[in-house]
Amino acid sequence: MNHAVASLPPELKVVNLTKQFGSFTALDHVSMTLKPATFHALLGENGAGKSTLVKCVMGFYQPTAGQIYIDHQLHSIDSPRNAHQYGLGMVYQHFTSVPAMTVAENLIMSRFDSPFVINWRKELSALEDFMSIAPFQLPLHSPVAQLAAGQKQKLEILKQLYLQNKILILDEPTSVLTPSEADEVLGLLRVQVDQHQLSVLMISHKFREVTTFIDEVTVLRKGKWVGSGLVTDLSVNDMAEMMIGEKREPVTLKKVKTDLRVPILEIERLRVSKDNGLPAVADISFAVHRGEIVGVAGVSGNGQRELVEVLAGQRTVIDGSIRVNGTPYTAIRSAMYNHRVFVLPEEPLRNACVPDMSVAENLAFRTFDRPPQSHGFWLLFHAIRNEAKRLIAMFQIKTPSPDTPVGTLSGGNIQRTVLARELSAKSINLLIAANPCTGLDFGAVDYIHNQILDARNRGVAILLVSEDLDELLKLCDRLLVMSNGEFTYMSEIDQLDLASVGRSMAGHQSL
Ligand SMILES: Nc1ncnc2c1ncn2[C@@H]1O[C@H](COP(=O)(O)OP(=O)(O)OP(=O)(O)O)[C@@H](O)[C@H]1O
Ligand SMILES: [Mg+2]
Repeated sequence: MNHAVASLPPELKVVNLTKQFGSFTALDHVSMTLKPATFHALLGENGAGKSTLVKCVMGFYQPTAGQIYIDHQLHSIDSPRNAHQYGLGMVYQHFTSVPAMTVAENLIMSRFDSPFVINWRKELSALEDFMSIAPFQLPLHSPVAQLAAGQKQKLEILKQLYLQNKILILDEPTSVLTPSEADEVLGLLRVQVDQHQLSVLMISHKFREVTTFIDEVTVLRKGKWVGSGLVTDLSVNDMAEMMIGEKREPVTLKKVKTDLRVPILEIERLRVSKDNGLPAVADISFAVHRGEIVGVAGVSGNGQRELVEVLAGQRTVIDGSIRVNGTPYTAIRSAMYNHRVFVLPEEPLRNACVPDMSVAENLAFRTFDRPPQSHGFWLLFHAIRNEAKRLIAMFQIKTPSPDTPVGTLSGGNIQRTVLARELSAKSINLLIAANPCTGLDFGAVDYIHNQILDARNRGVAILLVSEDLDELLKLCDRLLVMSNGEFTYMSEIDQLDLASVGRSMAGHQSL
């Protein structure tokens, strides 16, 4: 192993990799090579097989057929632990560190099976040596729970480097990061690659990241390899075309003039607490009017999540008032139904679906006790299924059937299922969306943006909370910046001053 540390990362090559789930072929004779000390991106639409490919490489899934070579040696990898022996490490989309333990404890524990065998003093001094040459620094003695999302993601990456892995696999690593955090993390990895310390294979939907940081791409479509090449030889349109198999003509809906005088959502002096009782939202007041998109920008963790949770009925109000259509609003199911309020929460798999229930059942959640579907069991069953088929086609949800458990769909297709349910409602009055496009491929992002604009043009009042400033600038009529639980900037979109937005996001400005 010591020898490997001093040398280039190994070459990773997969040949004719095939993975079937029952009769469904998720990966069909895919071959690719991750050359030593390169930064490689795996691209493809939602459901193309990207996560399945890397899970086979990491030994989570046993491929149905095909070979994996590390430095030209054939290996069968039967577990992530086994993959680690060959220098392969993976960073997941969700954090795996233990929140109550410190950064140092998490790093040291990752090397051992049992805390009883650890010589803590010796390990701490080795860790300090490692940190002195690590690409980024973290407060070693802080509990992980106190770290911001960007720092937690850095810890996940540091853990893989500390374990001396030379090939790092990242599945949509930047979906939990703001664009500037993403640039910092990817930039630091780029340096490691340039210094021949590391090879990186990253799954990403963001062309901006690909063109800025990546050397080479491999593109999958419907489980098959469709192309690969150097990023310098490819335009964004070339890559997009490979992903979807045709030329794309992105069309963004135009905003029509809407009547902005009728307030739909009115919030006054709202106070909300975090889980630990500390203030999350401090005395905010604002309104969202009919036919208006109000954007909330800000670095994650500044109260946005708690604001959305209150509106979705997942958190209680400490003080202040919320009115919808002029009447007091409690976000319980009947009030949400009566006022036609729809919510697209973050992390839909956790917050907005039942993973073991079918796609059709999850699509019907909001309407299953309402006519026309509530006339007897068979009628209900058929109505739910027919409606599900319609929505699956309309939102292009890739699922083997309406009866498939939603938890087995790819990340982006779970997101589409929730979006289809919430956006397809007949008469929406108020839509609250939190980072609705996380994890969606570019085609789906365009589609959802148009759906949101179309809803606005029809007169829906929309509160859009997003960490993606470009998305907000494209869609909003008015922008609010949230920092430390307060609004620190507020402007109509056509009078916006970007420098002030940046300053107030960083907490250097207040209204
Ligand atoms: N454990 C499983 N059981 C059944 N089907 C699965 C399982 N895992 C994945 N699939 C199916 O395999 C296909 C590919 O899924 P995968 O997660 O690899 O897609 P992906 O390219 O990572 O998509 P996304 O961009 O949405 O994350 C999907 O259609 C999915 O439904
Ligand atoms: Mg995936």
